[in-house]
Amino acid sequence: MPRTAYVNGRYLPHGAARVHVEDRGYQFADGVYEVIHVRRGRLIDAAPHCDRFERSLKALRIAEPMSRAALRLVLDELLTRNGIANGLVYFQATRGVAPREHRFPTVSRTSLVATAKHLKALPPEQLENGVAVVTVPDIRWRRSDIKSVSLLANVLGKQAAVERGAFEAWQVDARGFVTEGTSTNAWIVTAAGEVVTRPLNTDILAGIVRGLLLGLLEDRSTRLVERSFSVAEAHGAREAFITSSSSFLLPVTWIDGIAVGDGRVGPVTRELRRRIMAHVESQST
Ligand code: PDD
Repeated sequence: MPRTAYVNGRYLPHGAARVHVEDRGYQFADGVYEVIHVRRGRLIDAAPHCDRFERSLKALRIAEPMSRAALRLVLDELLTRNGIANGLVYFQATRGVAPREHRFPTVSRTSLVATAKHLKALPPEQLENGVAVVTVPDIRWRRSDIKSVSLLANVLGKQAAVERGAFEAWQVDARGFVTEGTSTNAWIVTAAGEVVTRPLNTDILAGIVRGLLLGLLEDRSTRLVERSFSVAEAHGAREAFITSSSSFLLPVTWIDGIAVGDGRVGPVTRELRRRIMAHVESQST
């Protein structure tokens, strides 16, 4: 089935989908985006993604491109036209097309673009053996809570990871504490059995899977602590993992070339992934 993209009211062949050269997303990264997982043709946790999309737009004072209900129709139509059962939808809204000037244009219309793609099942070895992460300085601006398309620091971080043979980079603040991955939230399980992730503020994205997992842990069978953790603490952790909408939860078994715990995927990580995937299955059946 040929791929179709959505661009400002039109469904176009993917290869022919274009935005204007003076779109402010292209020139200034003046826009925001979302990525939602699709299982059996259904969007997983669409409501919190739409909430965050609206929060990001508001933070940058970009007008909503359309109502939430209309956006849902566009995304569903895109899934149908692309025949997506398991995959991802991506959508981004920018401040629109205007002559290049830094200040907000007096007249512009929010641009909305959306694409959908198929996703293969995760490589079994990633789940069985876990992935490696490396740490890099967090060189981003101070509003990482906004899901902005300005991702240059994240791109450089991920590339550094790839070049060091790792899957993801954990970004580290000036005090030596991990903020988050380049496209994932970061978690450790301490020797005392606490599940630790950084609390929400402007330093990190309020990941939807992060929020989901916190909700699933409310039964108190797991000791959960939202606090910052240092690189040294991560190196000494018993288990570690990352969360994001693309892969939900992936075990981390190497940090900066140091084995996490005994270097194997631990029981807490396995249990938390099981709970997340049960939630995903319950939404897609
Ligand atoms: N990334 N932190 C950052 C910097 C992210 O870009 C993402 C998501 C997350 C996890 O958020 P969520 O659980 O809502 O997916 C954390 C998406 C998947 C991306 O950029 O492709």
